[in-house]
Amino acid sequence: MKIAVMPGDGIGKEVTEQAVRVLRAVMGAHAAMELVEAPVGQAGVDAAGDPLPVQTREIADKADAILFGSAGVPGDEAIEYMMRPGASLLRLRKQLDLFANFRPAVMFQDLIGASTLKPEVVQGLDLMILRELTGDIYFGEPRGVHRNAKGEREGINTMRYNESEIRRIGHVAFQTARLRRHKVCSVDKANVLDTMQLWREVMTEVSREYPDVELTHLFVDAAAMQLMRDPRQFDVIVTGNIFGDILSDAAAMLTGSIGMLPSASMSYGKKGLYEPVHGTAPDIAGKDVANPLASILSMAMMLRYSFGLQEKADQVEVAVRKVLAQGLRTADIAQPGMRRVGTQEMGEAVLRAL
Ligand code: IPM
Ligand code: MG
Repeated sequence: MKIAVMPGDGIGKEVTEQAVRVLRAVMGAHAAMELVEAPVGQAGVDAAGDPLPVQTREIADKADAILFGSAGVPGDEAIEYMMRPGASLLRLRKQLDLFANFRPAVMFQDLIGASTLKPEVVQGLDLMILRELTGDIYFGEPRGVHRNAKGEREGINTMRYNESEIRRIGHVAFQTARLRRHKVCSVDKANVLDTMQLWREVMTEVSREYPDVELTHLFVDAAAMQLMRDPRQFDVIVTGNIFGDILSDAAAMLTGSIGMLPSASMSYGKKGLYEPVHGTAPDIAGKDVANPLASILSMAMMLRYSFGLQEKADQVEVAVRKVLAQGLRTADIAQPGMRRVGTQEMGEAVLRAL
């Protein structure tokens, strides 16, 4: 098992450290496992003058899986786009063709009171947001800020998808639904955007190969509303890069905190990049208050998706449930009467539960 560890910036460092501790513990001292740490984001700039240094790219290429923290620093907008620390993650996704981003939103029973939604709305919630990750307005050309004919500054980004990009994420969606509750909801904006009209057409075409899976369509505004109104109607939500970015943050809050949400980004094989959905959170970085559970759960997804170690992944997830049941809470999931712990203590508690 060759694992590249890229803690990156902000709380990425603290939470990844806890995930690695738990990983070592669940695998045991004799596991054939090699961890190689590589700098990324501002850490990459500091080490090698590039947010995604050549060496880091090589390590990523050779690895079976990447455990990623988060990358980015506030105020990097002045830097040329591809050299921004935050863009290193996007470059890595593109380089490794990690087009399928799995973002499960699962309600942990013990956190039901931490959700801002009523318990009866989120009770037993288990949905999967499948976000296309290498296309769309994130990567479409042309892009940039220039002066137009009137001498005025003008910004441009381009929403672009070709048929094959839509088709491949469509197949992943239907195959994922087959392992779950056989329902796919495709989210687009086909009423306004041509790109999204194509999205809807191709999804409908792909669905013919999966007659056992029910396909529905929602416009993204309606999908946002339905996520808040009745999230349990969803099984797999498949959507483009930008809508998936937005909807997955919203879905995170259904479960109480974005500090709980793991993700896996996959290409065609078993190689994947695993990262918490939360990002760098610079306001709380270095204070030992960040929630390491999303990172720990991302590591569990790695064991499951890249290495097929279902039992070990289960063990990690059970350990997380246990510490929640014990009443341990980081600040983001604080509840009255529960014990407040920091990042390290939360990691230690998971280790003990394991
Ligand atoms: C995410 C993040 C990233 C994204 C940022 C940090 C570039 O918000 O993974 O959801 O927009 O994809
Ligand atoms: Mg996001």
